[in-house]
Amino acid sequence: MRRQFEHEGRLISYRDVQPPAERQAGVLVLLHAFPLAAAMWEPQLAAVPTGWRFVAPDLRGFGASSPDPPDGRGGEPGGHAALSIDDYARDVLALLDHLSVAAAVVCGLSMGGYVAFGMLRLAAARVRGLVLADTRPDADTPAGRAARGQALETLRSTGVAGLADGMVPRLLGASSRRTRPDLVAQVRQLAAAQAPDGVAPAIGRLMTRPDATAELAAFARPLLVVCGEEDEITPPDVARQMHGLVADAALALIGHAGHLSNLEQPAAFNTALDRFLTTRFIQP
Ligand code: MLT
Repeated sequence: MRRQFEHEGRLISYRDVQPPAERQAGVLVLLHAFPLAAAMWEPQLAAVPTGWRFVAPDLRGFGASSPDPPDGRGGEPGGHAALSIDDYARDVLALLDHLSVAAAVVCGLSMGGYVAFGMLRLAAARVRGLVLADTRPDADTPAGRAARGQALETLRSTGVAGLADGMVPRLLGASSRRTRPDLVAQVRQLAAAQAPDGVAPAIGRLMTRPDATAELAAFARPLLVVCGEEDEITPPDVARQMHGLVADAALALIGHAGHLSNLEQPAAFNTALDRFLTTRFIQP
């Protein structure tokens, strides 16, 4: 079910699925990738394990959530210093407050993972467990930041559709690109539908995000790391490194999937997620 609430004068839209159950096991918050929206979690929202509630927000400026206030910061050169990936994390914490949820398991894919790290920085006690999918804990390299500058240029000159055209081939793995034209079109459509005043500040937030390796290494609760074997953006080696940082973490490498492993191989992704949720979180 699609819902929304008002926070600091902005609407935050989210999907909320909670099949009837005698006993509640917990809440899983699903945080989407760039430049997508909560709609990318449809295959997971359609398969919520018994007792769980899945909540998937559209991050600020994506999907149906309001963008940043028009105060001139929107991803323009010189405005980046004011943008923080933790802005999204604060919105997610406000969503938990709105739902009266003290602590949740947090699943972030790529940019969603960076937001999950922001939640660890701001309020680690509210994170009962983590699913880090196709993401990385380190900050952008200088070359990565230069590429963000180019992405802003592409956005200005060709709009979100032009940016999506350039990005989508890298978001999906070689197998999906070869055999799933429907999925290629679906992801392109979802990316191209995003508003420039959500996408531009997001680029600023991505390029200024801090290294979160220390926060991840200090995480002492259940962790599942998931990665598509064909992920070219955050490859399996990065997943193995994250897995190695946390004692008793689980690792699921997903065959025939690239960066958007949850969309490319939903059955395998859901199997790994279900196993993690149902075996590691008996008590709320
Ligand atoms: C994403 O999928 O969210 C992006 O690839 C993240 C990034 O560009 O660092």
